[in-house]
Amino acid sequence: MKIGTPLSPSATKVMLLGSGELGKEVIIALQRFGVEVIAVDRYENAPGHQVAHRAHVIDMTDAKALRDLIIQESPHIIVPEIEAIATNELAAIEQEGIATIIPTARATQLTMNREGIRRLAAQDLGLKTSNFAFVSSLEELQTAVKDIGLPVIVKPVMSSSGKGQSEIKSQDDCQAAWEYAMSGGRVSSARIIVEEKIDFEYEITLLTVRSRASDGQIETNFCAPIGHIQKDGDYIESWQPQPMSQTALQNAQHIAREVTNNLGGQGLFGVELFVKGDDVWFSEVSPRPHDTGMVTMITQRQNEFELHARAILGLPVSTHQQSPGASAVIYGQLDEPAIAYQDLDKALNINNTDIRLFGKPESFQNRRMGVALAHGKTIDEARQTAKQAASSVKPQSSTTQDTSS
Ligand SMILES: Nc1ncnc2c1ncn2[C@@H]1O[C@H](COP(=O)(O)OP(=O)(O)OP(=O)(O)O)[C@@H](O)[C@H]1O
Ligand SMILES: [Mg+2]
Repeated sequence: MKIGTPLSPSATKVMLLGSGELGKEVIIALQRFGVEVIAVDRYENAPGHQVAHRAHVIDMTDAKALRDLIIQESPHIIVPEIEAIATNELAAIEQEGIATIIPTARATQLTMNREGIRRLAAQDLGLKTSNFAFVSSLEELQTAVKDIGLPVIVKPVMSSSGKGQSEIKSQDDCQAAWEYAMSGGRVSSARIIVEEKIDFEYEITLLTVRSRASDGQIETNFCAPIGHIQKDGDYIESWQPQPMSQTALQNAQHIAREVTNNLGGQGLFGVELFVKGDDVWFSEVSPRPHDTGMVTMITQRQNEFELHARAILGLPVSTHQQSPGASAVIYGQLDEPAIAYQDLDKALNINNTDIRLFGKPESFQNRRMGVALAHGKTIDEARQTAKQAASSVKPQSSTTQDTSS
């Protein structure tokens, strides 16, 4: 495996499609190996734009715009960071041998639509999932709810971060859930998944890496399981390791191995699983670093972004965990551009903490603007510390006079 010199004819070039806080860390990890990185996003000055060699703003769902930029920049490797991409165009790019798609174009196609990945996991691979149905009308939804049994969770097939997602507790909720799902999908398609609600004890992300071993063969390695809490479709807190029974961990790793083997390619995946006792249900998978995995920036020798970068480049990986740790999200709390962050020093004066501020140009109340990280002797200690650090950071209007420092 060799890497050239960036900004020269020998450069090894990687293009990130999506350059948010997760992409930014992947870019930094790639640049540490001397890779030339091109960051693409739908808005200017996205977090990853700020650390890349070149930055572009395009609509990544526009197949022509996407192809034109790929031809113009001629990257060797394309790394999708988001789901909303013209994935059929990526498949054509891969097919024509123009660039390698991480992990594979097929993986990006299957995971951008809940129907693709769910049918693969449940029907082709026979893995345990919640009972489910796909429906395209209110009448079909009402029938599916009767078949599956209450309560159910309803989600547009193309959506993320909980958009358009709701719970149906009685038949009377069907209409509202249908209308909400229709309004929340990424593309206007009248297709939703109806899922049995799993009464899980806890949910985890199992970070799974497909990389090249010293013999050149693909090997699969797992990070210690990450526990997390979700609210309104986004994670607010995560910790590692999540304690699990030996059997549950084996079941989780079996599911993750089967799914990622099928999706193929090289890179890191975030496999989302529900757990109760020894039972494990597959929920979904990101063929890329996972937001809950930001905790690995303080718990692992190679965090999830470094693991992704190494796996992509064909370099060896270590998923070794150094200590228990936790992450807690820092929200914007304000609806305005160019906010300031007060009391960062207070957060960092708490022992065993670290902070990432993503540098997003515009804040929204519930937009993730940063994350607090903490390690500790126990998970509980780390979680408390991370939450304390996150709440110490005070988003402030940029027009507010700062008299304290
Ligand atoms: N069938 C289910 N039973 C119980 N809880 C569920 C079910 N489906 C989803 N959830 C809850 O809702 C959360 C979000 O669901 P899911 O991951 O499918 O949506 P998403 O919009 O893709 O979210 P994200 O993009 O943040 O991963 C899950 O992490 C889980 O807490
Ligand atoms: Mg999810």
